[in-house]
Amino acid sequence: MAIRNIRTEGDAVLRKKCREVTEVNERIHELINDMFDTMYEANGVGLAAPQVGILKNIVVIDTGEDEPEPFVLINPEILKSSGEQTGEEACLSLPGLYGTVTRPNYVKVRAYDENMNLFELEGEDLLARAICHECDHLNGVLFRDVADGELCQASDREEDSGVNRKK
Ligand code: NI
Repeated sequence: MAIRNIRTEGDAVLRKKCREVTEVNERIHELINDMFDTMYEANGVGLAAPQVGILKNIVVIDTGEDEPEPFVLINPEILKSSGEQTGEEACLSLPGLYGTVTRPNYVKVRAYDENMNLFELEGEDLLARAICHECDHLNGVLFRDVADGELCQASDREEDSGVNRKK
């Protein structure tokens, strides 16, 4: 268990496409554990492997809802999405910034878990948003790219709720 360094915007690793995971070995298990530690320590609700400098298709998500979270998604593929939600988003790799992003309100994703068992997951609201945000990271996409307009500085706001929802 270890906290890893979170890469921030400007680091080229965040703009690269990740590779498929073919086998979950000891190193990958360690990476997943570290990603959870790093995400929780930073009060995030999701983290993608490139955010800790690893170009592999792995994300972890914990929106703070009840079971069955938290989730590990390996090689995630969004199968279906519908509806629309417009809301605030932030990212651990863009510290201090937030913006408005329109995302599907529902997504169905297929992924492997940490034992390489295939599963499907449906998410709505915040979970749907987190899945989309993290899957974007695996393709080198940051929320700045898909935000409605310019990002804002969190320090300009009176109330801080948005910064607790970093991904
Ligand atoms: Ni992010």
